[in-house]
Amino acid sequence: MSKRFYLTTAIDYVNGEPHLGHAYEKIIADVIVRVHRSLGQQTFFLTGLDEHGQKVQQAAAAEGKTPRQYCDGLAIVWKSFVQKLGLLTDDFVRTTEPRHQQVVQAILSKLNQQGQFYQKEYEGFYSAKAETFLTEKDRNPDGAFDREYGEVVRLKEQNYYFKLQAHQPWLIEHIEQNPSFVQPETRRKEVLGFLKHDQLEDLCITRPVARLNWGIPFPLDDSYVTYVWFDALVNYITVPAAHGDPLVLQALGASADSNSQISLWPADIHVVGKDILKFHAVYWPIMLKAMGLPLPKQILAHGWWQKDGQKMSKSTGNVVDPVTVINEWGVDAFRFYVLRELDIAADGNWTDAGFRDRYNAELADGLGNLVNRSLSMLKRYRNGFVTAQSNALAPEAERAVKEIRALLEQNRLQASLVTIWSLITRANQYVDQTAPFKLAKDPAKAKLLDDALYNLVEVCRILAVLLWPFLPGTASKIYAQLGLTEAPDKLAAAQWGGLKAGHSIGTPSALFPKKDGKDKN
Ligand code: MSP
Repeated sequence: MSKRFYLTTAIDYVNGEPHLGHAYEKIIADVIVRVHRSLGQQTFFLTGLDEHGQKVQQAAAAEGKTPRQYCDGLAIVWKSFVQKLGLLTDDFVRTTEPRHQQVVQAILSKLNQQGQFYQKEYEGFYSAKAETFLTEKDRNPDGAFDREYGEVVRLKEQNYYFKLQAHQPWLIEHIEQNPSFVQPETRRKEVLGFLKHDQLEDLCITRPVARLNWGIPFPLDDSYVTYVWFDALVNYITVPAAHGDPLVLQALGASADSNSQISLWPADIHVVGKDILKFHAVYWPIMLKAMGLPLPKQILAHGWWQKDGQKMSKSTGNVVDPVTVINEWGVDAFRFYVLRELDIAADGNWTDAGFRDRYNAELADGLGNLVNRSLSMLKRYRNGFVTAQSNALAPEAERAVKEIRALLEQNRLQASLVTIWSLITRANQYVDQTAPFKLAKDPAKAKLLDDALYNLVEVCRILAVLLWPFLPGTASKIYAQLGLTEAPDKLAAAQWGGLKAGHSIGTPSALFPKKDGKDKN
């Protein structure tokens, strides 16, 4: 049983509908999963919902629903969102599922037996929005807590705590010795800086039922529920356990069913936003180490989106609704904009004008135009039959494939798209330089026309293979228009010379119809 490439996203709070930020994270993750599939690996892609906690309890109450009714309703919306984005997911976890609750409780019991927990009374400021106690360090220079924490109240509570301090030295060493453990580099430095300069406070892992009952019952004391972050992080091993991962089952003290085993753990990449890095790069590794499980190979933290230079917020109305954009422009146009606009490390700013400009310039005039005119000319001048192999663009295509392979190994998605588009630009120039429409008028230039047509359709084929992880629907359409019945889902196919003389292509049609400037987006 070989281990699959296992990738996760954060699980989203189910206290509203999905927005651009959630979509972005899932798309990055999907591209990376597809890259690994394209390289021939078996993959497993997990996403899901974080359903417990005060925020959800409050949101449900505001709608006059029980938390369960509220979550069940929204789970339908979020699951259909996964379809809308065209994600290649293998499972969808909800933290209210019994399979998850069982794993959380088993871990809590195990860590308790090891003496990792203790009880104490704590008095401090609590933010329900962040589901956490705040400290003096969380205050702004003016003394107030940031608006991002929402309402902050003073609380005095008896709770259970997880001892973290003893773990600090090995974690620092691990991050120092494994540079790819936290990426990008700026985020790695951030985590190291924090671990080296601050003493880790023990983690409060319970909430009293009297204040919050929407949570996983704490197995050691029924007057508590489990802290939502301890609950949520565990999702990453709930699913391996549910699929019979022997490593995880062994750590949980459960026996493996030999018929249904998939090896997933350790996760290859946890894709998360920069705001939840500490939970993933500090608390989660410590929890795993205490459980006796190996650490994930990488935590990849992406930046945040704003809209028109401002934080997206429902109250001011400046949110980007991915579903509206996708319905109007298509999912690949949406995927392209978010992937091309931002490097994973950076923060981004969505503007409707920027979206429209990229659509028209890069998708319609760049890729769409190249594919449409290349295939249309082959139809018109050679009845749609592929001409004899010619290699004028082969060196440039091969160079691009090599460069993109190297970039993809480092998850440099934006840079890969830049390289793909330089090949598109080069091929469009090649049309202008060779001018097949002029060659077609002179029978003495038939060989030159054959050569030009071969180079163009073959570049289109290679582009489809390179584009598949990013724009899967478009890549499949290009293959179909080329009359190819297989999927463009193997990077090995990006080798020059795949189209054979005499092959008959399908019907060309516009990939990205040009839109005028009057559209809303
Ligand atoms: N439930 C926790 C995660 C638990 S993971 C064990 C959570 N949920 S969230 O819904 O608030 O955020 C989910 C993901 O979306 C996070 O990785 C977060 O960084 C990301 N984003 C939320 N808003 C975002 C933007 N505006 N831009 C980019 N990503 C953003 O945190």
